[in-house]
Amino acid sequence: MKIAHISDLHFGAHDRRVTETLLSHLIETKPDLVLASGDITQHALTAEFVEARDFFNLLPVPVFIIPGNHDLPGMDVMRFIAPWRRYKKYLREDMNPVLRSDLVDIKGINSARMILPATNWAYGSISAAQRHDIAETFATSTAPWRLLTVHHPLLNPKDFPLDITVFNADKLLKTIDETKIDIVLAGHQHHAYVETRLTGGHTTLFVCASTAMSTRIRKQPQGFNMLDFTETSVRIEMWQLGKERFELFSVVSHTK
Ligand SMILES: [Fe+2]
Ligand SMILES: [Fe+2]
Repeated sequence: MKIAHISDLHFGAHDRRVTETLLSHLIETKPDLVLASGDITQHALTAEFVEARDFFNLLPVPVFIIPGNHDLPGMDVMRFIAPWRRYKKYLREDMNPVLRSDLVDIKGINSARMILPATNWAYGSISAAQRHDIAETFATSTAPWRLLTVHHPLLNPKDFPLDITVFNADKLLKTIDETKIDIVLAGHQHHAYVETRLTGGHTTLFVCASTAMSTRIRKQPQGFNMLDFTETSVRIEMWQLGKERFELFSVVSHTK
């Protein structure tokens, strides 16, 4: 089973040429699923959501989406009246979705908040109800792989640490350990990496994707990840934009 992990599309601050290149790549390679881990839009404007929806509709495969902090309106009255109205209208009603398959069970969690006890509203947070929801989802899981996706990364990469506060991240890490989640897919940082965490004999891979198509690049060009699962192994390919197309630049393999 192949899952294309794209993140931080930032429609409204996207490079149309890269959007076309990504679309062609996904149509050609036809993974089994495209998973988008938040920051679908730049300013949560209606026109941006429409463009995002049209992009997802062009993909010939199912699409799993969670929101990011940019999918909330900025300092706009809509942020406080109906923060998720546009996301729900144009993308998905469920912001903490579940998708089950024979090989991988996937749970998504919305870590973006309308307001936070911090001056930086780009930070994230996880609630007790969400941790309970994760535990319940995986309690009935029979697939060999358990995958969680959350927009804000929980582990900082060694090569590019950034200050990203996620309220209750420590509690979520405990839930991840207890429920034996194998893979956590995130974005937000616009930097692709894989970090591993070993607890009680179980390994969890924390996989982050670069921005798929936005002009908001940091240390890396635009890119995405491709995860290929068998019953007992996963191959994680990191692709990044070259001169004309996406090119493979790093591979991490993991066996159970
Ligand atoms: Fe982002
Ligand atoms: Fe973000």
